[in-house]
Amino acid sequence: MANISREHWGSKIGFILAAAGSAIGLGNVWKFPYITGANGGAAFIIVYLGFILLLGLPILITEIVIGRHTGKDPVGAFKTLAPNSIWKNTGYIAIFTAFIIVSFYSVVGGWTLGYIVKSVLGEISKFENIKTSGGAFNNFIGNPFSMIFYHFLFLLTCLIIIQLGVKKGIERYSKILMPIFLFLIVLIIIRGLMMPGSFKGVSFLLDPDFSKLSWSAVIDALGHSFFTLSLGMGTMITYGSYLNKKEKILSSSVYIAILDTVIALLAGFAIFPAVFAMNMDPSGGPGLIFSILPVVFSNIPYGAIFAFIFFVLLFIAALTSAISMIEVVVAYLVDEKKWSRPKATYSFGFVIFLIGIPAALSFGAIKDFKIFFGYNFFDFLDKLTSNIMLPAGGLLFAIFLGWKYGLNKTMHELDQDTSVTVLKKVWAVTVKFVSPVLLLFVMIYPLMVIIYNYLKK
Ligand code: TRP
Repeated sequence: MANISREHWGSKIGFILAAAGSAIGLGNVWKFPYITGANGGAAFIIVYLGFILLLGLPILITEIVIGRHTGKDPVGAFKTLAPNSIWKNTGYIAIFTAFIIVSFYSVVGGWTLGYIVKSVLGEISKFENIKTSGGAFNNFIGNPFSMIFYHFLFLLTCLIIIQLGVKKGIERYSKILMPIFLFLIVLIIIRGLMMPGSFKGVSFLLDPDFSKLSWSAVIDALGHSFFTLSLGMGTMITYGSYLNKKEKILSSSVYIAILDTVIALLAGFAIFPAVFAMNMDPSGGPGLIFSILPVVFSNIPYGAIFAFIFFVLLFIAALTSAISMIEVVVAYLVDEKKWSRPKATYSFGFVIFLIGIPAALSFGAIKDFKIFFGYNFFDFLDKLTSNIMLPAGGLLFAIFLGWKYGLNKTMHELDQDTSVTVLKKVWAVTVKFVSPVLLLFVMIYPLMVIIYNYLKK
C-alpha cells in the first residue's frame, strides 16, 4: 500500500534514533524527575516501568504498525484503512492535539535557550540560594519580550531542520544530536556523583518506599508512560510511515522504549544526587530544573560550565521532540494537501508561533487569567493534552486496530521479527484489552477526583 516515491529513513538506526529523539524530551529530563521526586522515588519508578510494558510499548507498536502499513500521515492513514467512515476524524484529532502541544512545548523549549544564554553570561553563578534562583526564574518567565523571543528562536530552529526533509533533516540531526545528548548527560551524572553526600540521592532512586505511593501517583505514572513515548497524537504513526518494509517493528520499538526509559533514569541520576548533596528539596515540582538546579550549579566549582552543558542537553531533548510533533502536521499538509515541504513547514510554524503566544505570556502578562478550575492558560493546555486528548487519541488507535480494522490484517507487519510469536500474541491481547482499560482510567480519574471532592464538601 505504501507509496514508493515517499521519503524513507536511510537506516534502521536512523529511525530508532529519530524515534528515540522524539520520545526523549522534556518529559524525561524535566517532568520524570520532578514527578518521581514528588511521589517518593523508587516505588514510583517501579510502577512506571510496569506501565511502560503494559501501555507504552503496546501502543508504540500499534502506532508504528498503522504508519508503516499505510505509508501515510495520521489523517491519510485512517482514510486509507477505513474509507468514508468517521474514523478519519481520529487523524484530525491527532493533528489538532499536535497544534496545542507544540505551542506550549515550544515555550518551554525557549526556556532552555534562555538558560543557555544565562549560563554563558555567567548569570547562573549568582543564583546561590533558592530565593534568588526562584526569583530570577519567575522574572524570566514573567518577561513577555524574552518569552516570545525565545519561543520564536526555538521554533525557528525546529523548522529549519524539518524543512530539510526526513532523511537529510530529521534523521541526520537526530544521528548527530542524540549521541551528544548521551555524552553530556553522562558528564553531568559524574559531576553530581562526585559531590559529597550525593549517595542519598542514589538511594532515593533505588530504595522503594511504597508508603508514599498514592492513587494519584499511580495515575501520574500511567499518564507519563504514555506521554514519554510520544504516543496518542500520531507522531509514531508518522515516523512509522517513513519506515522501510524490511525493517523490524517489534525489535525497533523495544529499543526505542529501552532508550527512553534508560534516559529517564539517567536524568534522575543526573539530578537527584546533586540535589540531595546540597540538602535541597527533591519534591520541588516543575521548578526543580529551572530553579533548584541552578542553585546547585552556582555552588560548585566550574558550575557555570556544567550549567551550560546541562541546558544544552535539555535543549537537544526538547528540540528533537518538538520536531517530531511538528512533523505530524507537516506530513499531513504534504500528503493530503500536496504542499511542498518548506511551504508546509513555515506556514504551520507561523501558526504555532501565534498560538504559542498566550502560553508564552501565561506566567506574566496574563498570569492572573485563570481559564479553568484555577489553571492558567499554560497549565490548562498541559492538563488538557496529557490527561484527555493524548489518552483519547491512543484509545482510538487501539480500538481501531484491535477491534475495527482487525489485528490479523496487520500482523504481517511484525513478520520481519522472526521467532517471537509469543510476543505477537501478548501484543494482541494488550492492545485489545489492557491498554484501552488503562487509558480509560487515565481519562476518568481526574473526573472522579472532581466529583469526589464535590461530594465531600
Ligand atoms: N515524548 C516527549 C517527551 O517526553 C514529548 C513528545 C514528543 C510527545 N512528541 C510527542 C508527547 C507526541 C506526546 C505526543 O518530552
